[in-house]
Order: sequence, then structure tokens, then C-alpha cells
Amino acid sequence: MRAAVLRETNKPMSIEDVTLDPPKADEVHVRIAAAGVCRSDLHFMKGEAALRLPAVLGHEGSAVVLDVGERVTSVAPGDHVILSFVPWCGRCRYCLAGRSNLCDLHGSTIGTMLDGTRRLHAGGEELSPMGKVACFAEEAVVPETGCVKIDPGFPMPQAALIGCSVTTGVGSVIFNARVEPGSAVAVIGCGGVGLNALQGARAAGATTIIAVDVNDAALEFAVRFGATHTVNPNAGDPLKAIKDLTDGLGPDYAFEAFGSAETAQLAFDAVRKRGTAVIIGIAPLGESVAADAVALVRQEKTLRGAFYGSSTPAWDFGRMIDMYNAGQLDIDGLITRTYTLDRINEAYEELERGVVGRGIISFE
Ligand SMILES: NC(=O)c1ccc[n+]([C@@H]2O[C@H](COP(=O)([O-])OP(=O)(O)OC[C@H]3O[C@@H](n4cnc5c(N)ncnc54)[C@H](O)[C@@H]3O)[C@@H](O)[C@H]2O)c1
Ligand SMILES: [Zn+2]
Ligand SMILES: [Zn+2]
Repeated sequence: MRAAVLRETNKPMSIEDVTLDPPKADEVHVRIAAAGVCRSDLHFMKGEAALRLPAVLGHEGSAVVLDVGERVTSVAPGDHVILSFVPWCGRCRYCLAGRSNLCDLHGSTIGTMLDGTRRLHAGGEELSPMGKVACFAEEAVVPETGCVKIDPGFPMPQAALIGCSVTTGVGSVIFNARVEPGSAVAVIGCGGVGLNALQGARAAGATTIIAVDVNDAALEFAVRFGATHTVNPNAGDPLKAIKDLTDGLGPDYAFEAFGSAETAQLAFDAVRKRGTAVIIGIAPLGESVAADAVALVRQEKTLRGAFYGSSTPAWDFGRMIDMYNAGQLDIDGLITRTYTLDRINEAYEELERGVVGRGIISFE
């Protein structure tokens, strides 16, 4: 089967014929239906995040089950699934505490399957599967806990986006920050993840929703997902603009959804007294945010991170589907471009250049 292989950072991925071992016990063999073009993959391509190379990227995907390994009971051949990039062990303290997005076994086996081995090969070489998903490929072997069964009538491109950007963006607002109705919210970075934070804020009943992005087209697009105001940092001091839009106070919540120390700093500085800055974007390795130590105390600010929207994917993918079906989330409108696997490098060049909405690699 064919896969996009990342062999070196800052080089295009190559489309190669690779081999996939059969699923071991507790694993599932799937045919990929759709894969989302997320910035997290770009971080690995650029060397801003580390993964043993060569690797097959792709962590936002939907698929159809082909066959299952021993002991698998939750899915069967023919089932439609959303892939999760944090499969869970069910035994570590985080899984037991209902925080499977922070599973220790997954965290200690990055770049391999949960048992520390790999299923993907090219020639004699092993390929690392990003997020134990590796959906920039026609097929994948994933842990049973890394796939969640859905209704076969649900559209597959939309399902793929629930696998990362929707659950991450919406979840950061409703599961992590727990935004209350009437809140003022700012979202910094309005790509696939930020647009979902915006519509999460709208669903949560926020009344002032400020979209911040350096791309005017992204800001225009953001209005469709709930932005009531827009700020372009290239047009003037974004901190002042955000304060001006919130009676000089700053928002109750600011969500950082680009991935840099600078934008994380803006989120922290912008929020009002007792406000919360939630960092979603993954900054390049080694960067840090300086929280003003006095503001932290005297203004009782909170700075926190949100991984996978603080969701429990096995349960919360279904909640995202329910919100979509209830008309509370617009996932159709997020999908602005569709590519074949052969055009994946073009898809990432466009993401980096700054196009609006989310791109999809379609295998159907
Ligand atoms: N926490 C998680 O679990 C999780 C999950 C998925 C993605 N991520 C991370 O979220 C971030 C966003 O991912 P995405 O796929 O939405 O990216 P994207 O490329 O689709 O969107 C990023 C947006 O940020 C804007 N931007 C760039 N520089 C900016 C600046 N200085 N100020 C304001 N906006 C700016 C871009 O114009 C673009 O619209 C990435 O770092 C990604 O790795 C985190
Ligand atoms: Zn992602
Ligand atoms: Zn665990």
C-alpha cells in the first residue's frame, strides 16, 4: 500500500510503497477514508517537534475496519471509525482518573505502537507512526483504543476532523476552560483548530468572541464560526485592540491556537483579572512563555495547557457528532479543499502559506 513517508525534515515527503504487518492482539487494520491537514504534522516536517524518522505522519483521520487482531471486541470488519491520536491503556493513573488524553503508556511509547514495536516498513526499515495513527497512508494498523466506532451514515471527511481539530478546539473551550454563557473570549490563530475554538465559544454562549489572526482572509472566514470582532496584529498592537473590545478589561478567556511563545504571551497578557489563558498551539521545542509573576498573583490570572481539548476521545467524539447533528457545530464549512495523497506536499505548502479553513486528503 502507498504512504507518504517523511525521511528528512524540511524535505518533501515521498509517496512510497510500504508494507504493513497484520494487526497484533488488541489492534485493528483499517482502510483510511479521509485525513486532515493539521499544523501538528507540519511541526514534525519542520523539525519543530521530534519524532524518530523515517515516519508516516497524519493523526486526524477516519477509516473503515478491514480486519481485527485477537481480543478486539469493540469494532468489526466494515465498521466506520474515527481515529484517535491518543489511544489509552485503561490502567495508568490518568486513564483511571478519566484523563485518557494524558495516558502514560501512550506518552512513553511515542513513535511506536503501545507495545513499543512498529507495523510499518519500507524495505528493511521501520517507519514511526505519528500518534499511532499514521493516516497519510492508504491503510493503517491502530490500537483498538485508537479507533472509535461511528454511524456508517456519518460523512467521512467530517469524521476525520473530529479526530483532531474539532475535538481539540471545541474541547478546549467546553471541557478544559468550561466557558460560561455571557463570557468574553479571544481566539489567537484562526486555522482548523482556532475556528473550532471560536464555534465552541459560540456553542457555550460566549457573547463577545474576538478572532485574532495575521491573515485577513482567515479573519473574514472566522465570522462564519462565531467571531463577533476581529483583530489583525499586523494592523496595530493586538493587546490594545483586544482590551479596547472588552471595555479595557480583556477577555475572560483567551485561547492560543497557532503555536508560538509570542502568541502564548499575548493570550496571557490579554486576559482580565481572574481570566484564563489556554494554550492549545504547540510551540517549537524549547520555547517558553514568561508569565508576569506579579500579574499572576495580583490579578489572579491562570495560564494552562489543553491537550486534545482535555477530551476523552472514546466518549467525546460522539458528543461532537451529537453537536454537529444538533446544528451546534459547522464541520461542513470547515472543509475548504480536498487533495489526493499524491498532492500532500502541496497541501502543506498551502497550509504554511496561509489558506483558510481545513484541507482534507481524500482516499475515496
Ligand atoms: N493541543 C492539541 O492537542 C493540539 C491539537 C491539534 C493541533 N494543535 C496545534 O494547534 C496549532 C494550530 O493548528 P492548526 O492546524 O489550526 O493550524 P493552522 O495553520 O490551520 O492555523 C494557524 C493560524 O494561525 C495564524 N497565525 C500565524 N501567525 C499568527 C500570529 N502571530 N498571530 C495570530 N495568528 C497567527 C495563521 O494565519 C493561521 O490562520 C498548531 O500549533 C498545532 O500543532 C494542538
Ligand atoms: Zn491535529
Ligand atoms: Zn493510560
